[in-house]
Amino acid sequence: MGVEIKERRVTDAEFEEMKQFVFEYLAASVEKEEEGGRMRWYPWHSAEYRHNHILNVVELATEIAQKEGADVDVTRVAALFHDVAKLETDQELHAEAGARVAREYLESRGEYPESFIQQVCRAVEQHSYQGDLSDVALETQCLIEADLLDKVGANGTALMLLRMGYEARTHMDSDEMVERVLERGYNAASRVESETAEGIAHQRLKRVKWFSEWLEDEIAGMGD
Ligand SMILES: [Fe+2]
Repeated sequence: MGVEIKERRVTDAEFEEMKQFVFEYLAASVEKEEEGGRMRWYPWHSAEYRHNHILNVVELATEIAQKEGADVDVTRVAALFHDVAKLETDQELHAEAGARVAREYLESRGEYPESFIQQVCRAVEQHSYQGDLSDVALETQCLIEADLLDKVGANGTALMLLRMGYEARTHMDSDEMVERVLERGYNAASRVESETAEGIAHQRLKRVKWFSEWLEDEIAGMGD
């Protein structure tokens, strides 16, 4: 949809192939690990969740990139690969490892210019950056913003409630847990740089606020 002015470097068919690769990579990371891995029962640690999170980040990052004038292909390919190594590597190393997987994949296809590969890998490598978002390239910024935004809002709330089930908590704890999602949302809103991401952050924050108010309104003894 829409008018594509720039020449596309990554066709939709190529992008679908990349998706397939990333999801197979995630599933294989879980299969080959030994018993007693990294709390795989936790909602955030399954290949299915990671797969879904990546799709959400691709969508959010693409929207932000389009509206903010970033290179859409660099951004969406980086978003797709950003957590590819998450299930096989420690948290502190997964960004670097993901960039290596992305480079290997893109080089093996042989048709992408080195400058494109470099930009994609830089964004993947820097997506865990904790500093000011005005320090990084625009495409990296779009990716980090999208990654932050997927943890807040209705989706973040649903995951937090799911986690309560795994932890055998009762629903009376839900106001406290939703409060954590809200806090995360405030942090995300204060960190994002672009107007597009700010708009999405506020919309999602509002949803969590509503939900927490509804809970307190409906459940006796909650929020006192
Ligand atoms: Fe992520």
